[in-house]
Amino acid sequence: MGRVIAIANQKGGVGKTTTAINLAASLAANDLKVLLIDMDPQGNCTTGIGIAKEPGMPTVYDALMGVHPIESIVVNTEFDGLQLAPADKNLVAGNLDLVDMDRREFRLRDAIENIRTAYDYLIIDCPPALDLLTVNAMVAADSVLVPIQCEFFALEGISQLIDTVERLRDSLQPNLRLEGVLLTMFDDRTNLTRQVASDLKEFFKNEVFETIIPRSIRLAEAPSFGKPIISYDVRSRGAECYIKLAKEILANEQRTGSAA
Ligand SMILES: Nc1ncnc2c1ncn2[C@@H]1O[C@H](COP(=O)(O)OP(=O)(O)OP(=O)(O)O)[C@@H](O)[C@H]1O
Ligand SMILES: [Mg+2]
Repeated sequence: MGRVIAIANQKGGVGKTTTAINLAASLAANDLKVLLIDMDPQGNCTTGIGIAKEPGMPTVYDALMGVHPIESIVVNTEFDGLQLAPADKNLVAGNLDLVDMDRREFRLRDAIENIRTAYDYLIIDCPPALDLLTVNAMVAADSVLVPIQCEFFALEGISQLIDTVERLRDSLQPNLRLEGVLLTMFDDRTNLTRQVASDLKEFFKNEVFETIIPRSIRLAEAPSFGKPIISYDVRSRGAECYIKLAKEILANEQRTGSAA
């Protein structure tokens, strides 16, 4: 049964999509079958992995609404072992449409139920909001990975995010775990990011991944070529770090004994 990891932080621009794409590709590079699920109406994950948003293309929105089974919206990417459930701006309506639906928090979980066995990992990219789309992602997930940008307001909103995870654990998804907190856009040359990184480690203790993602132009460039960093520039620091993150997640999974 594939493990489902939601990449979430309601703060914008902290590296959710970059992490979703590059973690998914790095896991696939370990000979694993991976499904990347784009739950953000911005569709950055879709574009960033090289899938053009054609008008009329069936998307995650159709799967949530029950119009198409999710397996029929999944497309192959150019990256071996990595498939994508795409999204586009139609998903904006998803938040509103879901409100009046049956099992509104469970739509994604129900949609992926039958395909989970076909994958080793399902990685969900969330929008920058604690909305019904993010709740659907968390309810469908085994764990939540929280990217945090190493900058001054890093912790802003984090308590609200942790509250949401805890509330879901008490109600709709009792098994939801925190996969870990990932420090992103770390810049060794500035005192500020070094200080913030050390404060975050102090605050989250052993919840913080050992791997820290550096600020890297190559990581920022890769999506404009529709490629994960390990295709775009495998020798870059960014590639090295996302490969290390994938290994850390695989090792954690072996340690906690959760089934893949
Ligand atoms: N490690 C990094 N080094 C340099 N640039 C990065 C890095 N990670 C992400 N970026 C860039 O920062 C911007 C925001 O990153 P990304 O899109 O991954 O964040 P996000 O949390 O998904 O944003 P949103 O909340 O809008 O969905 C993008 O332009 C991305 O290319
Ligand atoms: Mg994003």
